[in-house]
Amino acid sequence: MTAPLMTRILPAGSAAAAEAARVLAAGGLVAFPTETVYGLGADATNGQAVARLYEAKGRPAFNPLITHVTDLAAAQALARFDADAERLAAGLWPGPLTLVLPKAAACPVAELATAGLDSIAVRMPDHAVARAILTTFGKPVVAPSANRSGHVSPTTAEHVAADLSGRIDLIIDGGATPVGVESTIVACLGEPTLLRPGGMPRAAIERALGKTLVSAPAPPPDEAPLAPGMLASHYAPRTRIRLHADRLEPGEALLAFGASLPEGAAHSKKTLNLSDRGDLIEAAANLFSHLRALDAAGARAIAVMPVPHEGLGEAINDRLARAAADR
Ligand code: TXA
Ligand code: MG
Repeated sequence: MTAPLMTRILPAGSAAAAEAARVLAAGGLVAFPTETVYGLGADATNGQAVARLYEAKGRPAFNPLITHVTDLAAAQALARFDADAERLAAGLWPGPLTLVLPKAAACPVAELATAGLDSIAVRMPDHAVARAILTTFGKPVVAPSANRSGHVSPTTAEHVAADLSGRIDLIIDGGATPVGVESTIVACLGEPTLLRPGGMPRAAIERALGKTLVSAPAPPPDEAPLAPGMLASHYAPRTRIRLHADRLEPGEALLAFGASLPEGAAHSKKTLNLSDRGDLIEAAANLFSHLRALDAAGARAIAVMPVPHEGLGEAINDRLARAAADR
């Protein structure tokens, strides 16, 4: 963990929105109210800021995050909308509804924020303070609920401070959040599917769609991505992954960590370093994009050097283990 931060709390208003935008642009972390719960925001396009966000939450795994925008054009720059998704956005946005959609080809959101998936969760919040921050910042913002991992979602600035003081830069206090539960999540990757019940009632969604929602199986308790078998829950490379590699076999590609490379590294099909200075925040930010690039190298396996199990290393190792186990 990096040195504790001085967490400032500002009352909502135009000065606070400007300060929030400044902190976000500098790669910092800002908690702010939405109509559902308080979110912990980071610049969605900045992989290192997203890595810091996971670290601040103390999440032992990289679950994909929701990207927040203020208008439909901004959402369409991130994701592809089919007719069902267009109906839901037209009828129910802004509001407590998140759509999981195919990622657009030129989507600028950091790979870490979508945990390497080809889909992205997008939401247009209906709260004046959230909207003012997003508009002033002018770029998409990822925001999970602003609690420590395993704690309940915060509905007041005091809840956020109790969980995250010393771990984030700024809290914007806009009073209690009106809805109080997280957004409803619907995947439009085929037949519209309810992934998480939440602040937008199922009946309102089905009315806007003109048909019933498919239900995903009940979510696991740890906020893991939902619906195994229905949706890919995590990124899985096609190439075999070999963990804890202390030497490189012929024909392998290398996912390195730190300055000293293993024996045989000179003959690697392709080598990418998560962080040559051994920085776990940098490593997290690079994880999924490096895996993708090595997956495309035509290697017989991707050998992965050991990553220390401290701080974000726990989440990095979790994702690497899943990628290794998946084939
Ligand atoms: O109301 C809300 O949605 C709040 C406010 C701050 O906007 N945010 C929130 O975020 O609840 P979080 O990170 O606590 O929950 C996001 C959920 C997780 O269960 C995650 O697995 C799911 O969204 N999710 C995100 N991207 C996904 C994807 N591509 N496919 C499936 N599930 C996804
Ligand atoms: Mg949450």
